[in-house]
Amino acid sequence: MEQVIVNDVGPRDGLQNDSTLVTPEDRVRLINSLLDAGVRSIEAASFVSPKAVPKMANADQVFAALDQEAADFSALVPNLKGYELAKKAGARSVAVVLSATETMNQKNINMSLDQTISVCKEIVAQALRDGITPRSYLSVAVECPYEGMVEEQVIEGLSAMMLEAGAKEVIVADTIGAANPAQVKSLFTRLVSAFGAPTISGHFHDTRAMALANTWQALECGIRKFDASIAGLGGCPFAPGASGNLATEDLVLMLNDAGFDTGIDLNKLLRSVELTGQLVQHPVGGRSMAYLNRRTENQQ
Ligand code: HMG
Ligand code: MG
Repeated sequence: MEQVIVNDVGPRDGLQNDSTLVTPEDRVRLINSLLDAGVRSIEAASFVSPKAVPKMANADQVFAALDQEAADFSALVPNLKGYELAKKAGARSVAVVLSATETMNQKNINMSLDQTISVCKEIVAQALRDGITPRSYLSVAVECPYEGMVEEQVIEGLSAMMLEAGAKEVIVADTIGAANPAQVKSLFTRLVSAFGAPTISGHFHDTRAMALANTWQALECGIRKFDASIAGLGGCPFAPGASGNLATEDLVLMLNDAGFDTGIDLNKLLRSVELTGQLVQHPVGGRSMAYLNRRTENQQ
């Protein structure tokens, strides 16, 4: 069976944007439940300003509680300060956040596009020196909520820049869920032919119910690593119009059903969905939840 890596970004993308503040202890409980379901790649937290994103405060406490051997844990870092904090907390993998447009970088991390490129390159270089794996988000890869459509050649150029700088992977992100499968086919075909599939992963938000279709399209282009968020939570607080990420349970249902090896037990993953709902105290779950709940009842 062909392997597909499912990287759960729920503890970061999911919880950063929720109205409920979840304690570091409970964020660790969520991570442990994902581990129990077989998830082996998890974005555990972000080291960002607690004033900008209060829900991600105390990321060091989350990292301190993780068994680094249990999975590939990554930390999102927006600047060198965040990088140093992540390193001190024991992160072995970091993801920098480069957005494709001037305005999105300013709104998200208060830096111009040029400043962001230079900071991202500096972090990548430092991570390589420290033996930490650097990856790079490429946000608003199809459409920016402030500047509109983004040209494919811009994404190719920025991807080339980050890969040349030493990033091990570019995470191509549809931040506001604006992409459709035809656009994804065109963009990912171009990126795979330029850089090869193993250096690219997909991060689709599900605002318009197209995240699974977009994922399948990227899969057809050869991509074998996707971000998803447990229970479908998520969104960047600085990107108006962003709603939840592709739900991990929807992605795993599709991949397992289609004969890919994710290593994830869907029944156990439903416990993580349930725990997520308890932690954020409102109804959660991907688009397949009604079916999955019925299936579980029939199994009992
Ligand atoms: P700034 O105000 O320009 O920064 O914010 P500053 O350097 O002037 O510092 C301001 C204060 O923050 C200072 O503290 C710093 O020490 C502190 P004070 O002196 O006021 O007490 N500070 C930090 N504290 C902790 N960790 C840090 C850090 N840096 C400075 N790393 C800054 C600039 C980048 C800090 C801020 O804008 C920020 O934290 N932004 C984060 C935004 C964010 O988390 N966005 C969501 C993640 S991106 C996303 O969701 C998209 C993604 O999912 C992909 C997709 O879907 O597209 C990844
Ligand atoms: Mg996101």
